[in-house]
Amino acid sequence: MFVCICHGINEKAIQQAVSEGAKNVRDVRRSLNIGSQCGQCVRQAHQVIEQAKQTAAGAEFYAA
Ligand code: FES
Repeated sequence: MFVCICHGINEKAIQQAVSEGAKNVRDVRRSLNIGSQCGQCVRQAHQVIEQAKQTAAGAEFYAA
């Protein structure tokens, strides 16, 4: 599903950015330019980032 229509960014791209170290919308904006045009996607991008961080934390918990 597309999160940022202006730049054609989907959930997978955001999840990939989080796996590469992005921790918030500002970090994702630096790498993917998300939210830099109309800004409509920022709230949903935040939700996707938080979910990706929780998923990554859970994976680390079970890997330890
Ligand atoms: S939808 Fe992301 S900047 Fe417009």
